[in-house]
Amino acid sequence: MTFFRSDLLAGKVAFVTGGGSGIGKAIVSRFLEHGAECVIASRNKERLEAAAAELSAQHGRRCVAVQADVREPDQIEAAMDQAIGTFGRMDIVVNNAAGNFLAPAAALSYKGFATVHGIDTLGTFNVSKAAFAKWLGRHGGTILNISATLHYTGVPFQVHAGSAKAAIDAMTKHLAVEWGPAKVRVNAIAPGPIDDTEGMKRLAPGGLKAKLEKQIPLGRFGQADEIAQMALFLVSDAASYVTGSVFVVDGGAWLAGTRLEM
Ligand code: NAP
Ligand code: COA
Repeated sequence: MTFFRSDLLAGKVAFVTGGGSGIGKAIVSRFLEHGAECVIASRNKERLEAAAAELSAQHGRRCVAVQADVREPDQIEAAMDQAIGTFGRMDIVVNNAAGNFLAPAAALSYKGFATVHGIDTLGTFNVSKAAFAKWLGRHGGTILNISATLHYTGVPFQVHAGSAKAAIDAMTKHLAVEWGPAKVRVNAIAPGPIDDTEGMKRLAPGGLKAKLEKQIPLGRFGQADEIAQMALFLVSDAASYVTGSVFVVDGGAWLAGTRLEM
């Protein structure tokens, strides 16, 4: 079932980092359903290829897996060359790849902090810069960053991820301003707790889910597809005048002060 026209993204090509699992995979599924062709890029080749085959079969549209680490600009540039070589264009870029774990700041190693910033913050810049150089700067298009709400309140044990996502929110605004004249729109989605994802397995293990859900105004965790629906709108021409904005999709969780109490 779709709320949008099935040809909403017809003729478009999307490059989605971390598109082989969780929220990224749900986004790719909705993009394919609405007429886009997709390239999914991340480190785990086996899982990526399985996801690409599953999604292509499900939607009858091409989805190509390319192994790349967002921390390595050379790998990202090569993946984009492959995407553009295969499909002839690259209109939509989704920076969804991220790494996270719960760790008290005092116990977090220097490398642990740098690793999360490397994937989230530097990765988002690497992918955005390469995309602008290889396609978006000359043809226009749109970038969508997947952020979080951790840094709105300073969620405990999340200084690494929260500060990385804060930088991504800032980057969303900077790049929207710089690249608007090139007809590149840049936006972000800040998801709240999303059910059945690696993110929530790591941040809300065991019995924490039921306790957290009671604190969320809408009374439940979100579904990955509820992030995908917002993504679909934001990358489509329905959002043609929307740029530089971060959209919270969290059932009201952060406003209500939902807290990870370990
Ligand atoms: P996930 O399934 O683990 O997604 C993360 C993806 O990033 C994986 O597909 C992973 O693939 C890829 N990745 C990690 N490191 C990478 C690297 N160095 N280079 C390239 N790809 C890399 O987790 P998720 O929960 O769906 O999270 C997706 C996004 O939503 C993240 O940005 C996360 O911060 C955000 N978010 C999630 C929630 C939630 O409740 N789940 C809440 C707020 C925000 P490989 O292992 O193959 O590299
Ligand atoms: N608690 C504290 N520190 C941790 C940790 C944890 N649970 N997991 C990893 N680290 C630290 C490591 O100890 C290491 O630092 P050290 O050498 O000083 O000990 C540093 O982080 C790098 O770990 P490493 O495993 O080498 O990194 P990686 O690049 O192979 O993997 C991660 C990156 C750590 C983010 C890994 O969890 C990952 O690949 N995640 C992707 C999936 C994900 O996180 N999904 C949720 C998205 S919200």
